[in-house]
Amino acid sequence: MEKYIINGGNRLYGKVAIQTAKNSVLPILAAAVLTDEEVCIKNVPHITDVKNMVKILSCLGCKAVFQGENLIINSSSADCFEIPSALAHELRSSVFLLGSVISRFKSAKIAYPGGCDIGLRPVDLHLTGLKRLGVDITESNGYILCKCDKLSGNEIMLDCPSVGATENIMLAAVKAEGETIIKNAAREPEIEDLQRFLNCIGARVSGAGSGTVVVEGVEKLSGGEFVPIPDRIEAGTFLVAAAMCGGEVELERVCPENLSSLLHKLRENGCKIYANGDKIILQSGKRLTSVKSIETQPYPGFPTDLQAQITALSCICKGQSIITENLFETRFKYVPELRKMGADITVINRSAFVRGVEKFKGATVIAHDLRGGAALVLAALAAEGRSEVLDISHIDRGYGAFEFKLRALGGDIVRIVV
Ligand code: EPZ
Repeated sequence: MEKYIINGGNRLYGKVAIQTAKNSVLPILAAAVLTDEEVCIKNVPHITDVKNMVKILSCLGCKAVFQGENLIINSSSADCFEIPSALAHELRSSVFLLGSVISRFKSAKIAYPGGCDIGLRPVDLHLTGLKRLGVDITESNGYILCKCDKLSGNEIMLDCPSVGATENIMLAAVKAEGETIIKNAAREPEIEDLQRFLNCIGARVSGAGSGTVVVEGVEKLSGGEFVPIPDRIEAGTFLVAAAMCGGEVELERVCPENLSSLLHKLRENGCKIYANGDKIILQSGKRLTSVKSIETQPYPGFPTDLQAQITALSCICKGQSIITENLFETRFKYVPELRKMGADITVINRSAFVRGVEKFKGATVIAHDLRGGAALVLAALAAEGRSEVLDISHIDRGYGAFEFKLRALGGDIVRIVV
């Protein structure tokens, strides 16, 4: 078990380079199973979810090796269609492999995927979509078993714009016979990035980001090199850190247009923000003012993956806020931990009701999931006094070199192995 020890109160100054997007890299790694030629994914973050996805690819018989920051994958020797349950339980994105494994082997077996404990996280939309492409699916003893003679293009209407279901169906459709149209598809930038990667290796995908994705099936795919987009959630986490601690931070290698809903809220809080090309500068001085209401929505609405971070910020603003989580059922597990730090916050159903206090007080708190854990680190950095954040393995799933980047900005944070 590892923990962070944080002495709060330092303002943050300096530059931070943003990693490539975890939620882009993971479906792209699944997509690499579709081709027999070598693919090179550049600047891949060294985070636990990526390491576990690489382990799964190796279990399928693929060769996947890091060369510095680049990940080289060759799936020509892939010979297994069963995703190991221990690894499937580790991460949600294991389910994305269903589409590509079925496409390659016409069979697939996977245990129900794990990942952050933030809600029920069903996969019904994934399975309904795959059935529309001709896949027979049975579920028994916690496993999902898939078989098909061939994959045939079809029209699929998603009940909700699920990111994972959109990606899974795209992967299964790439080499299906004929055209697949995915309606009410997710619009996240990571969906567009997956489309760019697939087209870079010879697929014919269009419409990502528009809500309707069209996939023309092709016979064969090639290899290629690809640089995924920057991680908008890591970027947003650092912007909120600077807003809460005060100071001036410059993010490098970001896409400001992918963060507009957060930038809008932070400006309303009173931050000065300058966005130019692939850089964002945030200045925060005096105590910030509360934003009355924040509702998480599918992209381009306010991202659920920044809900915990903006709630932590709201706790030390002047005024009151209501933060509503519309996507996941139990994404407020970090709230009792913030209360230990002096937050005045109450959760009723899907909303957190916040009354701003002057400052957090240092305390010992526990991370329960990836983004909630990150929010506790931000609260500790802004707090008065010493904090400990326990069970930080949750944070390691999505943030590479997190404490190094925060220390470089002036944060007093160290990792301790207990
Ligand atoms: C992806 O999860 C991300 N994970 C999540 O990021 C992110 O919070 C989420 O999209 C929403 O943006 C990855 O990309 C690896 P969904 P996913 O399917 O695909 C319901 C992080 O912190 N739903 O868009 O699992 C579901 O219950 C992680 O980086 C169904 O009902 O999210 C939820 O209410 C956490 N049936 C809503 O859709 C289904 O078959 C959105 O889920 C699938 C989803």
